[in-house]
Order: sequence, then C-alpha cells, then structure tokens
Amino acid sequence: MKHILAILRELFSKKLLEREIEKMVMTGEQVLSYSAYGEADSALRAAYLFHAYWASQSFSGCKRVIDLGCGPANQLLLLAKLNPQTHFVGVDLSEDMLKLAQKNKESSGINNVEFVADDITQLSKLADKSFDGVFSSVALHHVSTEKDLYAVFNQVERVLSGPKALYITDFILLKNPKSIDYLLELNWQQPELFRLEYLNSLKAAFSLAHFKKVHELVHTDFKIYHTKLANFLMIMKTPSLTTEENMNFSQLFNDEVRKLSIKNLQTYRDLSLMFRVSGLK
Ligand SMILES: C[S@@+](CC[C@H](N)C(=O)[O-])C[C@H]1O[C@@H](n2cnc3c(N)ncnc32)[C@H](O)[C@@H]1O
Repeated sequence: MKHILAILRELFSKKLLEREIEKMVMTGEQVLSYSAYGEADSALRAAYLFHAYWASQSFSGCKRVIDLGCGPANQLLLLAKLNPQTHFVGVDLSEDMLKLAQKNKESSGINNVEFVADDITQLSKLADKSFDGVFSSVALHHVSTEKDLYAVFNQVERVLSGPKALYITDFILLKNPKSIDYLLELNWQQPELFRLEYLNSLKAAFSLAHFKKVHELVHTDFKIYHTKLANFLMIMKTPSLTTEENMNFSQLFNDEVRKLSIKNLQTYRDLSLMFRVSGLK
C-alpha cells in the first residue's frame, strides 16, 4: 500500500522539484566510505554490476572508453575487468578520489585503466576524437548548472570519433519531496554517509527534459531508458553490439554476481526489472 501511495503521489504531482546543487567534489572520509561501500557486497555493488553488464553490451569492440567522474573507480575497474580488450580512462576532479582509484587499481591487478585529473565540463587534457566510447555513472548531477551539463556533452562530442558508443546513467529530478523520503526509507539499512550522498544526489538531479536535449549535442544513435512510475533513474545507451556469446565475459560476470548476498542480488533483479519494463534489452 505504501509503495502504491508513493507512486501515485509522484505520478500526480505536477511541478518538478527545484534542483539543489550538490558540492562538486567529494573529499576525505566521504571518499573512503563511498569506496568501501562500492567494493563490498552492497546495493551499490549490485548497481555497478547491472551497469557493467549493460555498458559492456554497448562497448563491445571499443578501443578507448572514457569514464566521466570515475570516483574511486570501483565501477570502472569492474567494467575494465569484463572488457580486457578495451582501454579505459577515468576522469575526476577530486584528488582524493583519484588517489584511491589508483590504489584500488593496483590492488585489483587490472591494467587496462588509467586516470586523468580533469574537469568533465572541459576535458582540457584529452585530445579531439581520442575515444570511441563514453561511460558515466551518477556523476553528471554534480555539475552546477544546465549550461555545465551541456558543456560536458559538447566535450563528449569533441573527444568521440567513429560509431560513438555511449552508456551514461544518473538520477532524474523527482516531482514530490515525499518521493525522496520514500526512496531513502527503502534504503534505511545502508550506511549513513551513503544515504546522505543518495539524498543530495536525488536533490541535485537534472530533469529528464534536460537529458533529452542531449540528442541535439551528441550525434549518435542513443536511447534514454528511465524507470517508469517512480521516475528517478535514467540510462542513455547506444545499441547493444554483442553478436555472439562471449564465454569469458559470462564467466567473469557470473563470478561477480555470485559474490552478492541474496538481499543485494534482489537489488540487481529489481534494477533489471525496472529497466526491462522501460524497454532495455
Ligand atoms: C557520486 S561519485 C560517482 C563515482 C563513480 N562514477 C561511481 O559510479 O561510483 C561522482 C564523482 O564525480 C566527480 N565529479 C564531480 N564533478 C566533477 C567535475 N566537474 N569534473 C570531474 N569530476 C567531477 C566527483 O569528484 C566524484 O568522484
């Protein structure tokens, strides 16, 4: 009953919430806690696995993929492990994040990843047409304004060449403040710092209309999938390219999924269901 009420409340609210800008870069304890949570058997890890699976379908055959706002690279390292033929470049503005990303890379033994300190609205250290894929996970809402969001996509268009694979996921701005309370309540078991980051991210999210405008800036064949009813998460994705069963990928992926507890496996399944309903295949 509580779930139905929450969905109806969001569906019938007319106006979007006002965006509340989140502090751009994460530092210190925030960084350590975020990384530890993404490394452990957690809801965040389940989300990383879900995105790694679907992003890999779009990046099949890519030579160089950039990750915008890679943070501690838990997500990026998973993607790199599953796609050893691709070279990944993680970009972040937070020195603390990049230090930890480097440490996480060294302890993982994964070599097809490097990191660059840069602002994703500028990508000043990256050459034109130097990538064929772009990835980003829950980072775009950190930029301050709509203008900055579009600056990111102008840079994406500049650094990409070829068929241009894209996989970008982020939160979507909700309509009713109680929807935010509801989503936080669903995550009551998660660590406090993570819940705070989740709250701030939901408040800072851009609207679906903002993301739809990206079609005018990035010239490639991507679709936007978003959770229906409670519309809080979106994925921009170019078509899946995998044509044949890749045994190595399946084995590595299944090994990672097996590490999830039943509770977090359920989070993975919930995400799969929400996006299958929205047409992700
Ligand atoms: C919530 S974390 C996401 C990290 C990672 N993508 C993940 O999925 O776990 C957002 C990251 O974006 C970075 N960030 C925010 N604004 C940025 C900017 N303008 N340029 C580069 N990185 C930025 C932050 O430092 C942080 O590491």
